[in-house]
Amino acid sequence: MWICPLANIAPGEAIRFDAISPPLAIFHTEDGEVFALDDTCSHQDASLADGWVDGCEVECPLHASRFDLRTGRVDAPPAKRGVRTHAVTIIDGDIHVVMSVAAPNLPPGITY
Ligand code: FES
Repeated sequence: MWICPLANIAPGEAIRFDAISPPLAIFHTEDGEVFALDDTCSHQDASLADGWVDGCEVECPLHASRFDLRTGRVDAPPAKRGVRTHAVTIIDGDIHVVMSVAAPNLPPGITY
């Protein structure tokens, strides 16, 4: 699935891609790596693309849970469950994502 040109996301920034549901968060790290995760925090309804990227982690803007961008694993509570990650490839300067077939870990009460 085509997302956008890599040049659209500055290093250290992220975008929310909501053309699909649940929406994705696409992260471009300061080191130039690109990761795709489910955008919705597994704790409550917050957008991880609005969080703070530090190295290979993102901190949720609502309660500061930290998720590993490479694995989706939770590195700091209060979230208990990780978020899905999706395979990213860069083709001719464009970001493409292959969606995980795993079930998303959406927070309680959130359905898409
Ligand atoms: S909504 Fe993300 S940690 Fe609470």
